[in-house]
Amino acid sequence: MSEKITVAEARRPEAVGRVVVLQGWVRTRRDSKASFSFIEINDGSCFGNIQAIADGELENYESQIKRLSPGCSVTIEGLVRESPGKGQATEVQATRVTVHGTADVETYPLQKKRHSFEFLRSIAHLRPRTNTFGAVARVRNCVCNSIHQFFQEDGFLYVHTPVITASDCEGAGEMFQVTTLNLEDAPKQGGKVDFAADFFDRPSFLTVSGQLEAEIFACGLGKAYTFGPTFRAENSNTARHLAEFWMIEPEMAFCDLVGNMDLAERMLKRVFTDVLEKCPEDIEFFNLRIDKTVVETLRHIIESEFRRLTYTEAVEILKTSGEKFEFPVDWGTDLQSEHERYLTEKHFKCPVILHDYPSSIKPFYMRLSDDEKTVGAMDVLVPKVGEIIGGSQREERLDVLEARMKEQDLEPEDYWWYLDLRRYGTVPHSGFGLGLERLVQFITGMANIRDVIPFPRTPGNAEF
Ligand code: 4AD
Ligand code: MG
Repeated sequence: MSEKITVAEARRPEAVGRVVVLQGWVRTRRDSKASFSFIEINDGSCFGNIQAIADGELENYESQIKRLSPGCSVTIEGLVRESPGKGQATEVQATRVTVHGTADVETYPLQKKRHSFEFLRSIAHLRPRTNTFGAVARVRNCVCNSIHQFFQEDGFLYVHTPVITASDCEGAGEMFQVTTLNLEDAPKQGGKVDFAADFFDRPSFLTVSGQLEAEIFACGLGKAYTFGPTFRAENSNTARHLAEFWMIEPEMAFCDLVGNMDLAERMLKRVFTDVLEKCPEDIEFFNLRIDKTVVETLRHIIESEFRRLTYTEAVEILKTSGEKFEFPVDWGTDLQSEHERYLTEKHFKCPVILHDYPSSIKPFYMRLSDDEKTVGAMDVLVPKVGEIIGGSQREERLDVLEARMKEQDLEPEDYWWYLDLRRYGTVPHSGFGLGLERLVQFITGMANIRDVIPFPRTPGNAEF
């Protein structure tokens, strides 16, 4: 009896001698003069392909096998044996090749040649069949699994926060509005659109962050985390911004900013360790073809401590660096990506955690420090990507929080439930947000964030 196994299993030396069934897509076919063909297939289970040898004696050899081309889907039955070829331990001597679907050589876009990542973005429905995107998909999957395991083992509760919300957590006004009103003929009240007539009786939006609701669970159940899609309508066409991305947001009661930084550092190191251990072939590919420093960087980070310093210290370093920046730096201005990258790539050459930022450039919920000029914020910066984590200790004092909201022109009444957490049994608490795509970008060395999410959403792009 032949048994269905994956290409990953068939590639291992232990598979030799087994009669198996393999199913996947043809990557290449080569014909030998001695009337047999080599067919390489991939099924997504691992980076590598398996080579099948199809003999001219097979009944569909001339009619089907000799016409196989990249992209055709096949089932191959046969015996796994030791391969005399280089770079592979095993191969399969086919006893039957069933062709499920052909792929016209004239029109199938993925012929055996290098395609640019820009081109592959235009065929996002086919790019999972390429080496690079298969590897990205497996690494992304491994990262997600590792993150869940890390939090589960650490006693965090996974909570599902809403995708539709009425509050702008970051206060940056970069939200996508959700409405069922007819935009051509919206009901009006005093010359303005009457959102009281909308589906939720108020203006509502896609969330930019699950933090506020994660705080609800932390301030009652201790430690919680969210892992979901978040949306930002910022019109920035950069290699690090998406309009739809995934964020992991842990939130901890009875935790201060130092505990928060410790968690972020521990979590990142755990993820890097898991990826190196569980996706060695994929990471080796990124190291060889995408960015030669990937493996060395990850190893180095796992072993070293993140550099922690205050925003004020960072501004001093930047001002005396002698480096020409496009945007000037001065205490009180938000750091630009060029500044963040200078610190982590050139100055410290390791991940950096900046903390204690000016209150004027940070959202209302961050805890005001005793100096009354800074808040307990922290950003984790890594080489090439810049900021991958943003977090803070939260303001747990009702009066201070209300004052901060008014300063930022927010109506405390709109956040009555958030304020209740401070009114009843308030606790010091902290949390952060990790951008999944920026993390995958950093791990793989992929230059553009659009190539580490299956279906990127950016200004002007919502195909697939
Ligand atoms: O720094 P941000 O805006 O923080 C928050 O949203 C907090 N509410 C998180 C919290 O404390 N629970 O975003 C967090 C992270 C960033 O560091 C970045 O990695 C990622 O989310 N991010 C983006 N990733 C891709 N595209 C975008 N447009 C992103 N904006 C933020
Ligand atoms: Mg941020």
